Amino acid sequence: MSFAGDLLKWYDAHARSLPWRGQRDPYRVWLSEIMLQQTQTETVKGYYARFLQRFPTVFDLAAAPENDVLKLWEGLGYYSRARNLHAAAKRVAEAGGAFPPDAAGLRRLPGVGPYAANAIASIAYGEAVPALDGNQARVLSRVLAWEPPVRTPFDLLQPAQALVPADRPGDYNQALMDLGAAVCTPKQPKCGDCPVARHCRALAEDAAAEFPRKLPPIAKAEQDWTIVTATAGGRLLVRQRPKGLLGGLYEFCAVEGHPDEAGLARALAEQGFRGIKLLRRLPDSKHVFTHRVWRMRGWQAECEAAPEGFIAVDAAGLDALPFPSALRVYREIAEEILK
Ligand code: ADE
Repeated sequence: MSFAGDLLKWYDAHARSLPWRGQRDPYRVWLSEIMLQQTQTETVKGYYARFLQRFPTVFDLAAAPENDVLKLWEGLGYYSRARNLHAAAKRVAEAGGAFPPDAAGLRRLPGVGPYAANAIASIAYGEAVPALDGNQARVLSRVLAWEPPVRTPFDLLQPAQALVPADRPGDYNQALMDLGAAVCTPKQPKCGDCPVARHCRALAEDAAAEFPRKLPPIAKAEQDWTIVTATAGGRLLVRQRPKGLLGGLYEFCAVEGHPDEAGLARALAEQGFRGIKLLRRLPDSKHVFTHRVWRMRGWQAECEAAPEGFIAVDAAGLDALPFPSALRVYREIAEEILK
């Protein structure tokens, strides 16, 4: 039997029983796939049921106030998903209630990326497209003993597309999800239990766990910063970061490097702070981003005037502003300072 044939036979006997399975209503399939994108199946079950109870059709969802949608989403995280969900529901409702009829059309809805579009189109419409996420990429990289490093699942698009059967593509995709979750796991795959073991080239090389091949780790650039929680007239000085890394989020005064006291005071004066007084050292902190590391040293200071771009906030003002988690240590100290 073919790869897909063996996989589907296994799925017929072992498919996880999940509330969104066994029906092809695009509204329900879409709702479940959006929820499942960054959230575990167990968590999604309850949210899915509550959403359908409160919004049985796409019209009910479209007509709801955004706050109701966000409230019901609370706890699922990634709130842009909820906002996009609502925007997409409005668009579908305005178009008469019918979802776009294929993956390419679904892809144009807010919040529907290439993975979700293919998952929905294969499950709801039987379109033969791969729901290619990290799970599916892992399984297929093993089946094919795919040698190139996998940077994104879409590196495997061509072979993944070639394997999708014309018959039951939605079940095929979901079978790969179940296989990836239960058998072809990232570490210590259970090859002895695998229904497609005889198709697996990596297993034939006794090397299943060594796929997908990875890129060599990138060296992370290390940057030293001195973070200064400075106040003026009892209020804390903060400013919004420009576009780029953490753009739009707020930050404290900062000086590059780890200068000594005199050097720090000079650097702050060069930035335009007037009457600066360094009060005490604050703890060090380190934050690891994907491509860089910030090694931070902290200082508390007060000054008479700050350069343009800074605003002075009280405790409530600080509480309302978004800060990157990289600055969490200093934000908590700033809260204490303003108390
Ligand atoms: N993850 C994403 N889509 C899923 C589905 N349809 N079933 C199980 N897990 C999933």
